[in-house]
Amino acid sequence: MTTVARRILVTSALPYANGPIHMGHMVEAIQTDIWVRFQKLRGNECHYVCADDAHGTPVMLRAQTLGITPEQLVTQVEKSHRADFVDFLIGHDHYHSTHSDENRLYAEKIYRALRAHGHIAVRTIQQAYDPVKNMFLPDRFIKGECPRCGAADQYGDSCEACGATYAPTELKNAVSALSGAKPVARDSEHYFFKLGDFEDFLRRWTGNAGEDSSARVQSEVTHKLKEWFDAGLKDWDISRDAPYFGFEIPDAPGKYFYVWLDAPIGYMASFDYYCRQKGLKFADFWAADSTAEVYHFIGKDILYFHALFWPAMLQGAGYRTPTALYAHGFLTVNGQKMSKSRGTFITARAYLDHLDPEYLRYYIAAKLNNRIEDIDLSFDDFTARVNADLVGKVVNIASRCAGFIGKRFDGMLAAQLPDEALFHEFARAGDSIAQAYDAREYSRALREVMALADRANQYVDEHRPWAMAKNPDKLPQVQAVCTQGLNLFRQLMVYLQPVLPAMAQKVEAFLQIPATQWQAHRTPLLDHRIADFAPLMTRVDPEKIQALIAAAHAEAAEFKIAAAAAPKTPLQEHPIAAQISIDEFAKIDLRVARIEHAEHVAGADKLLRLTLDLGGEKRQVFAGIRAAYEPAELIGCLTVMVANLAPRKMKFGVSEGMVLAAGPGGKDIFILQPDAGAQPGMKVK
Ligand code: 2FM
Ligand code: ZN
Repeated sequence: MTTVARRILVTSALPYANGPIHMGHMVEAIQTDIWVRFQKLRGNECHYVCADDAHGTPVMLRAQTLGITPEQLVTQVEKSHRADFVDFLIGHDHYHSTHSDENRLYAEKIYRALRAHGHIAVRTIQQAYDPVKNMFLPDRFIKGECPRCGAADQYGDSCEACGATYAPTELKNAVSALSGAKPVARDSEHYFFKLGDFEDFLRRWTGNAGEDSSARVQSEVTHKLKEWFDAGLKDWDISRDAPYFGFEIPDAPGKYFYVWLDAPIGYMASFDYYCRQKGLKFADFWAADSTAEVYHFIGKDILYFHALFWPAMLQGAGYRTPTALYAHGFLTVNGQKMSKSRGTFITARAYLDHLDPEYLRYYIAAKLNNRIEDIDLSFDDFTARVNADLVGKVVNIASRCAGFIGKRFDGMLAAQLPDEALFHEFARAGDSIAQAYDAREYSRALREVMALADRANQYVDEHRPWAMAKNPDKLPQVQAVCTQGLNLFRQLMVYLQPVLPAMAQKVEAFLQIPATQWQAHRTPLLDHRIADFAPLMTRVDPEKIQALIAAAHAEAAEFKIAAAAAPKTPLQEHPIAAQISIDEFAKIDLRVARIEHAEHVAGADKLLRLTLDLGGEKRQVFAGIRAAYEPAELIGCLTVMVANLAPRKMKFGVSEGMVLAAGPGGKDIFILQPDAGAQPGMKVK
């Protein structure tokens, strides 16, 4: 039976360019890569593209902190992201950036088309503005006390302590996380995508939730969608004001596309670039009448963007919409949310420095199904599973049979299988395994493969080639049994190839066979010379696991130290106090004063005694500025004092006022000096 090859385009979500690839990204990349490799193995035309999500405020600010341009930052980060994916054997056909000519082109095209069809609205809104940094603040950059539980230091959109979500204006004592300044409300003209125009379309588009191959979204999404539709599809704010790292909106100087507007367009941009490299036709996949399939693998947290905004944008701009969205759950590490400060944040690179990427590929695959469930990376379970299944079962079959074939039969396999029925049983199992892969039921696929591996080991156990090998008359049977064992092993490796591509390559070299195709599991390898057996995979070394965990903890400790040591701005140190009225201010009588005399105070190592001339009236003031000023340098200078402060009796005499100074103290204290021309006694107002 010949089937027509499917034409498929697959994407994973685009990682942000402001941080490293971590285990959470890897779950998605591994899930997608296995599916893509499976489709290719089946002979389908399947293309897998991804890109870095380069735009937005965090990237802009991080570049500022590092003293480089955002362009330099995204170039550096993209390089490291690409290396992480390659080393995890993620076979992207192309990896691009949203900060690219292609992405600008499609972002502008889509925007113009939406505008031409009346789907863009412009109106003025009020937004939190940082008066020190001179920029509008995204919710994430506003911090304060949770309006519900009062927890301190919570973000402007949600509370990590109690899970409440709210508007930044509801936060108590809100400050800018960037400068510590109290945000002020400011007007700004914003551009909106009128999502509500697409309600009927979106209801139809998402209407067939389920697990069969015609469903656009998984059944678990149904109740979320209902919530979203019930809440009403609000206009989506797609613009941000300068300064912003992104693409300027056509005909709107100083206004930029919000990062989430051009992020999914990055799927198209990456594919467009790839098409031109490969001579493919972009329109075959993206034109409204395309018959190709397009799938987006995503995390459950970005469903709203992919199930509502994205199909609506595509529909509104005259492109095809995705065939389906495949969402997955989150990853926990040893049962805990990944957290930088708790030592459960494991970067892809830290993992790669200690462990084989195929361990993780297998472990994740063995836990994945097509539902939106969270999965846990438990290192004990990881070690037990990989050692038992891959080393103890799969590799074991080959290592038990290969030695005899190599040493006793000069590498030659027998001309016949002693148990053809068993071989055909393994071949038939391929259909169900393929069905499981296609449906993203990887855990089921691997359970079935491991059940076959048990059968193969059982076969070798029953025929005991090591015992027969002692009897020269039985050598042909040894060759036959080992040939059978190696053929069963090869069938298993066909089934495991999407998960373990590097091991599959080693097996190709060992068995001297061409690159694996799915159909290979149907034809036995007979009367064929194989190469010497080389170890295909070693057991997980518990010491390496310990070293990885220790590295994550060391990083967590560094992270905490860095966070604690991060210098605070003066405003973060002392947020601006509660408002007062002009009348309250007027109560403080501030005067220009000349420092007539300054001297050390015996027995007080922090104080200077100042004699201040107010232009007629003299005052004695004790000021805590000894570490910062020599008396001589002060004499004759003008300063500002609080003239109506109640006198205070001190050990060394009465202090009759207070000199104004700024700074944390010690050497870092700076007295206020009025500009030239001010006269002693003048009122400061
Ligand atoms: O959530 C994220 O990490 C985003 N950078 C994903 C973008 S996916 C796509 F829409 F570009
Ligand atoms: Zn709270």
